[in-house]
Amino acid sequence: MKTKIIAHRGASRYAPENTMPAFELAYQSKAEGIETDVQLTKDNIPVLIHDEQVKRTTNGTGYIKDLTFEQLRQLDAGSWFSGEFTGTQIISLDELLQWVKDKPLCLNIELKNNKIDYKHLESIVYERLKDYQLLNRTTLSTFNPRSVHRLKDYNKDIGIAFLTSKRNRNLVSHAHELGANAIHIKYRLLNKLLVDQCKQAKMAVRVYTVNRSAHIMKCFTHECNGIFTDIPDKALQFRTNFYH
Ligand code: G3P
Ligand code: MG
Repeated sequence: MKTKIIAHRGASRYAPENTMPAFELAYQSKAEGIETDVQLTKDNIPVLIHDEQVKRTTNGTGYIKDLTFEQLRQLDAGSWFSGEFTGTQIISLDELLQWVKDKPLCLNIELKNNKIDYKHLESIVYERLKDYQLLNRTTLSTFNPRSVHRLKDYNKDIGIAFLTSKRNRNLVSHAHELGANAIHIKYRLLNKLLVDQCKQAKMAVRVYTVNRSAHIMKCFTHECNGIFTDIPDKALQFRTNFYH
């Protein structure tokens, strides 16, 4: 089994994370998947942004939950990264789904509800995916165990992943009990025993955020199901060399 290459926040080494230019670059590099982070605006629109506040990745200030989609649209989400991307906007989840629909990409939508547990985020995102007929190529993931549990009724239609950076000897059974069918782990947690436990439990295992060549290779050696990387073009080159 070949490890899938999933562009982390898009091809985020080369373009501002979670924006259309980063997703376009990921697609052009032939990544198999795109990872993105979703939060809810004041008017309940799911938008793609990693932090709870806009400060780091835009020219604005404030929490996503306190701003309307229209207000977020006025912000510049590109110039913090480079002048070349000035005027790049925050996009809604719908815009990404519309764009993905006719492309051979799988999706990992990370629900950013571990710090602010947005009400109904799970069902809002699920219904959007259903409308766009994208359920069968999407995994929803979250660091929030309560949210994984709330998602468990969907785990026949869709990938549900428990995200973690914490060591836990019972991680696989814990994730399974919550209702997840995959675990997404920080690279330092990766070891053969964990991968074997996942295989036995029929759980997919994917690893974030893997940018160093030696680390990428280790994920291939362990036959992880996927890696999240900021440099999908390079990871694909490494993978070609790995199987030659
Ligand atoms: O979904 C994998 C990874 O994105 C989780 O961490 O902080 O980059 O969203 P973070
Ligand atoms: Mg993420």
